[in-house]
Amino acid sequence: MAAPLYQAIRNFTKKEKVSFHMPGHKNGRGIPSFFAKSAFSVDTTELLGTDNLHAPEGAIAKAEQLAGEAFGSKRTFFCVNGATGALHAAILSAVGRGGKLIAGRSSHASVIAACMLYDIEAVFYEESFLDSFGIPAMPSYRTMIDVLDKHADAKAFLITSPNYYGICGDIGKAVQAVHRRNMALIVDEAHGTHFSFSPLLPKSAVRFGADYVVNSAHKTLCAPTQTAFLHLGSDLPDEKAVQYHLSLMETSSPSYLFLCAMDLAREKAQKNGKSAYSALIRNLIFFRHQLERKTKCKTLGGDQTGFANIHMLDPTRLVINFRAYETTAADISVQLAEEYGIYAEMADRENLVCLLTPENTIHDLQRLSHALIKICSALPERTQTPEPSVSTPALQTPEVKPSNAFSAPGILLPLAEAEGRISKRTVSIYPPNIPILLPGSRITPEIISYLQISLLNGLSVSGLEKGSLWVLQD
Ligand SMILES: Cc1ncc(COP(=O)(O)O)c(C=O)c1O
Repeated sequence: MAAPLYQAIRNFTKKEKVSFHMPGHKNGRGIPSFFAKSAFSVDTTELLGTDNLHAPEGAIAKAEQLAGEAFGSKRTFFCVNGATGALHAAILSAVGRGGKLIAGRSSHASVIAACMLYDIEAVFYEESFLDSFGIPAMPSYRTMIDVLDKHADAKAFLITSPNYYGICGDIGKAVQAVHRRNMALIVDEAHGTHFSFSPLLPKSAVRFGADYVVNSAHKTLCAPTQTAFLHLGSDLPDEKAVQYHLSLMETSSPSYLFLCAMDLAREKAQKNGKSAYSALIRNLIFFRHQLERKTKCKTLGGDQTGFANIHMLDPTRLVINFRAYETTAADISVQLAEEYGIYAEMADRENLVCLLTPENTIHDLQRLSHALIKICSALPERTQTPEPSVSTPALQTPEVKPSNAFSAPGILLPLAEAEGRISKRTVSIYPPNIPILLPGSRITPEIISYLQISLLNGLSVSGLEKGSLWVLQD
């Protein structure tokens, strides 16, 4: 008899390690011991006194109301299918089946999936690119206005803010521009759930009156994987329709472990947020300063001047750039995990992204600092300017409707032979799970070369099967 997954996770939990990744409770550190020990006794169902997530009137309604007050929303829903489910409900409510959505080129794959499933036409705008780090930033105001004017028949505009690197857009301006055109604003604020709990953090989109704001509770609060909040920040959305759409796409047996944890996570952040974030930010300022003094690494936010199209930065997101060394951040990430037991959230070619919450102690940061100083001291420095990091290739507008492409007959072709064919699947670099190819779009030489370089740099590409790609049959 064997339970290989349980065994693998059990072995993993026995290792002494530091977490700079989700979930925000950091291996259970931020969970009260009673709750941690009684996880299975709170795993109950809809009974007398436990309420019903799909038609809340009792304890769940009260917990959602308190969350709404904490986040400043008109209404907050607890979601048990992650920001993914919350985004689906927001998109379906705002756009409707068959409608049109304007979304950023760097939207998460769940946005594309929603468009595929509900037959929504998506048009994409480009975010600007921060050359000094080789990462996407926010759309310029001009880009936003142009796309809004060009697609005046769209029902909603979606912006991801903050992005994976903690870069935030100007949501106040977006609200005005979008509402002036009678559209709804959806903000994918999956990475900014903590924004409501300290004045030292950027302001949440809810406070600007964005219509639908999606937060992943598990990313930056002390809540388990899969938990999320969907907030309505204005009177525009139809509350009942949103509740109905959530019921359509979420399980009929929501986990009480998740629901209780969301309630507790909100309470904890509200109680301790002010002092906890101020201590974390102080520790991070010290860390950044020390790392930049002792290595040739750069950190985003170490010097905030001169960045176009970055309205604000999340000071708790740590982005470390290794451009000065002959290495990739993906290699550094593996070395940190294997040799030092330090796990980062994500690595792209030149940046390591660490996700910190107040559960990360100064000791965690000291371990990271010692490890990086040691690793960097053994790395050759670059003598030549590196090839510039290229921004993700432009998304090709689907030539076949994504909802048709994904169900049409297909064949599997090696990446190198797929040029000019139509993709059947979404292909993305994971994480951050931002699509490179959409179902129904044509595969260009730039896309093939981008995917090949990503694979060579040790990044994980989702949607490929052993280096091959599903394309439509001729
Ligand atoms: C920007 C963004 N939006 C949405 C999601 C989906 O979140 P979840 O994993 O909570 O479903 C993610 C996941 O990483 C994300 O990065």
